[in-house]
Amino acid sequence: MIDPYLIRKDFPMFVNGVKMQGHPLVWLDNASTTFKPYSVEKAVERYYETETSNSHRGDYDLCFKMDEEVLNTRKKVANFINCDPTEVVFTSGTTASLNLVAFGYGAKYLKEGDEILLTQAEHASNVLPWFKVAEMTGAKIGYIPLDEEGRLTVENLKKALTPKTKIVAVAYVTNVLAYIAPIKEIAKACHENGTILVVDGAQSTPHMKTDVRDLDCDFLAFSGHKMLGPTGIGVLYGKFDLLCKTDPFMTGGGMNAKFDMCGDVGYLQPPLKFEAGTQNLEGIIGLGAAIDYLGKIGMDEIESYGRMLKKYCVEKLEETGMADIYNPHSEGPVVAFNVKGVFSQDAATFLNSRGIACRSGNHCAKILIDYLKVYATVRASFYIYTSKEDIDALADAVKHGKEFLDAYF
Ligand SMILES: Cc1ncc(COP(=O)(O)O)c(C=O)c1O
Repeated sequence: MIDPYLIRKDFPMFVNGVKMQGHPLVWLDNASTTFKPYSVEKAVERYYETETSNSHRGDYDLCFKMDEEVLNTRKKVANFINCDPTEVVFTSGTTASLNLVAFGYGAKYLKEGDEILLTQAEHASNVLPWFKVAEMTGAKIGYIPLDEEGRLTVENLKKALTPKTKIVAVAYVTNVLAYIAPIKEIAKACHENGTILVVDGAQSTPHMKTDVRDLDCDFLAFSGHKMLGPTGIGVLYGKFDLLCKTDPFMTGGGMNAKFDMCGDVGYLQPPLKFEAGTQNLEGIIGLGAAIDYLGKIGMDEIESYGRMLKKYCVEKLEETGMADIYNPHSEGPVVAFNVKGVFSQDAATFLNSRGIACRSGNHCAKILIDYLKVYATVRASFYIYTSKEDIDALADAVKHGKEFLDAYF
């Protein structure tokens, strides 16, 4: 079992005793971003202190070393999600990865009347690129209805699929309700229909084992900063044949094999075809260190610890009698709630006054509001260094819900 206090010794944000409003920090906004362990910080520092150079740009040792580091991290990512290193594209994060699929693949192959299926629980990053591509191609956007709890089910997907459905784009774990979607079954149903499945893995990859071969999804996007890695680095996984068919979203140095004055251009093979310009090398190295750190703990351990915290938090908040919880039965380490009678932003501001960091609002899932029938929620989200005491502090604050507004007015 994970000991969060032992883990905290590896994290400068805890070791340095960072406070908020004079209170020891209670960090419950891990779905937004995560703290970084020393090993990630050291890896990034190493780039700046002894390894600064570019990759694929020079015939000297420092540059060769950088090429090796990038390749090693690509292999680590491939091993982490079970694919081939040639199927790992480095991007700046989930948003960039999803935009790359939407514009590089969707815009190229979708035609007027084709259909893209999403759900109402998607993050803006998995909605807006598809809106834009639909506008460009004449394809239509449709929504797979969520069930009464807010889950995506295979049954509902099957009912929504039509011969015109060319792309289904859904989150493996949604960022507000945190249900795990049955991606393997969804992939099967999509493929039987000749449909490509794009998976937003921003909230799943950090918290559970991901095996893209077993899932058989076509694309998977995720961010380094939500899994202990640096900001500004992320991954797009794509099946190699699909990556070959995908157009680069950005062009420039490092991704072309040749070009001439007549405009005759040849691109490199994936994944390099998608990595135009100087890459976020320190981010790539840091991501490798984050994967090493997660690997030492084990993704199954991380998932079961998250589930335990989630259950504990639901119990504690229910005990207060002051919370409306919107996802008590979901599997992901996220609790979406409101303090009875208190607007979510006021609640989050009060939590801040006690050193507790929770997100409030619609969490970039703006079309989920119509489904939830609430304008905004407070979101508490956990990771490997979250303790039960953090959750106790949250529950204690919620218990004093009636004082929320008094604290400020
Ligand atoms: C489900 C989901 N998708 C996409 C994103 C976007 O990730 P990023 O901002 O790292 O690109 C997030 C971020 O919160 C998310 O939760």
